[in-house]
Amino acid sequence: MCGIVAYIGNKQAFPIIISGLKRLEYRGYDSAGIALFNEGVKVYKCKGKVSDLEVHTTGEDVSGTLGIGHTRWATHGEPNDVNAHPHTSQRGYVTLIHNGIIENYGELRRKLERRGYEFKSETDTEVLVNLIEYIYLKGDVSCEIAVRLALSKVIGAFGLAIIFNEDPDLLIGARRGSPLVIGVGNKEYFLASDATPIIEHTNSVIFMNDDDVAVIRRGELTLKTIDNNLLEPEIQTIDLDIEEIEKGGFDHFMLKEIFEQPRSIKDTFRGRLSADLNDIHLGGLYSVLPRLVEAKRIILIGCGTSWHAALLGEYLIEELARIPVEVEYASEFRYRNPVIYPDDVVIAISQSGETADTLAAIKLAKSRGAMVLGICNVVGSSIPRETHAGVYTHAGPEIGVASTKAFTAQVTVLTMIAILLGKHRKTVTNELATTLINELGSIPAKIERILESNSKIEAIARLFKDSTNFLYLGRGYFFPVALEGALKLKEISYIHAEGYPAAEMKHGPIALIDDKMPVVVIAAKDSSYDKVVSNIQEVKARKGIVIAIVSEGDTTIKGMADYTIEIPEVHETMEGLLAVVPLQLLSYHIALMRGCNVDQPRNLAKSVTVE
Ligand code: G6P
Repeated sequence: MCGIVAYIGNKQAFPIIISGLKRLEYRGYDSAGIALFNEGVKVYKCKGKVSDLEVHTTGEDVSGTLGIGHTRWATHGEPNDVNAHPHTSQRGYVTLIHNGIIENYGELRRKLERRGYEFKSETDTEVLVNLIEYIYLKGDVSCEIAVRLALSKVIGAFGLAIIFNEDPDLLIGARRGSPLVIGVGNKEYFLASDATPIIEHTNSVIFMNDDDVAVIRRGELTLKTIDNNLLEPEIQTIDLDIEEIEKGGFDHFMLKEIFEQPRSIKDTFRGRLSADLNDIHLGGLYSVLPRLVEAKRIILIGCGTSWHAALLGEYLIEELARIPVEVEYASEFRYRNPVIYPDDVVIAISQSGETADTLAAIKLAKSRGAMVLGICNVVGSSIPRETHAGVYTHAGPEIGVASTKAFTAQVTVLTMIAILLGKHRKTVTNELATTLINELGSIPAKIERILESNSKIEAIARLFKDSTNFLYLGRGYFFPVALEGALKLKEISYIHAEGYPAAEMKHGPIALIDDKMPVVVIAAKDSSYDKVVSNIQEVKARKGIVIAIVSEGDTTIKGMADYTIEIPEVHETMEGLLAVVPLQLLSYHIALMRGCNVDQPRNLAKSVTVE
């Protein structure tokens, strides 16, 4: 949450920072601001999006080759002009932008107030900027020392970019908990919350670690810890194509990402599936495979859509590898003193690799001796670096806040892990492994076929765009898909929606059904098909409106449901990968027709780096 971009070099900072902030708006978009050094620090900030900031700065002198920019997701203090970042210290010496939460800000604020500081905003950030200034002036120390001393007094999470009114050549970055990447250009440096704003300028980056401080003087970087230990910067070359972070002719990132799924799933299994050799290669797991195969229990953790992928993972791993699996919300897991045995394996699932609750749960599991693996999309993010081993999903950057292609990539990885474990544990025969590998290989082409129904789904969306409630039902592998379908609709259209196991309908939700209630039933052919057919009849008997996801050629449900959307047949364990696609499209079209901002739904952020 919150996006940070900073620049120091020979070019004009303003356009670099503005275009970088636009790439980071998925992290928050309730206010935006920029500070530029031009004969002193000048700050421009306002409530709203980066485009509002552009309007706000029209006609202003925005020149300068050193600057910091921020797009905010509010934690402390409502989104308004005053609470927007950057924040400047009371006497104007220090200006900074911050991603994260200063947990002891109340105590620090009281101390500073006793020393004559007055606060303009309700933010925790203003406490930090004043603390740095207080130490700078009182201690008569350098800017860098003031920053490091102040940070040593802070409890909480921060990604920071800091500039100083007395020093036109200094940019300081610091990280604990919130991500920060340094871009290394030709006599220029960038700081950003992730690599997407940097990639159009340089592909050489340094992923900062917790408690790292980057002291950047023009053309010269020194990396050290908050405790002043010098570090050797590890420059990595990242492989990120600029086209991957553009809309590529689609109206929205979400639609682009839904349509990308045939390709992104191929990218996820490329080089990892071998039907000829009847094998799955997951290089990231080689070193830990023996322990994984012998695990007495696997605990899958995640948040939001990643938690839904984990639920599918439970079904897949228990079915194919016969290892007991538990699925936990990362936020609950970390706060409820869970029982973790040393022979448990914890697998954390996260698109961003930065979700604070998931990171905290990983640390807890590690501290209890469990082996912890990661399934992440963003290369170099915090979770892959915190875990013992893992698998990247390689779905490419996902910009739309509502997750789509990351979900199907996560499920693809979980399917591969389940087959791999099943083979090693001999719970999957060679013959079944070949079938499963071939079936997984067929998924991209089958999703292409589903995408051909886009206009049909759009027409159905038109009929239900004004509904106020939706129910999503599914059994077995389709239950997590029902949850995910309901979440997609809630997130982007603000329609209340609930997902339920179809059989649970009669224990409560059936009371909601009347002739105004659209019920999306995932009813493709699988082992519980007949039971779901009965559930559809129960809905129809109460005049509910049924939109059914059915297998190609199904005639039984077509005769009962009000609307049907077909998906190709595939092995039961992989049907979730197909069934979710029409639900993504349905949510997209409904949200669009309701005039919602599909890519940037209200109150949400893509990367939730606060607990
Ligand atoms: C936020 C996003 C969701 C995402 C969840 C977990 O709530 O809006 O789309 O599923 O965080 O994020 P992660 O990056 O850990 O998968």
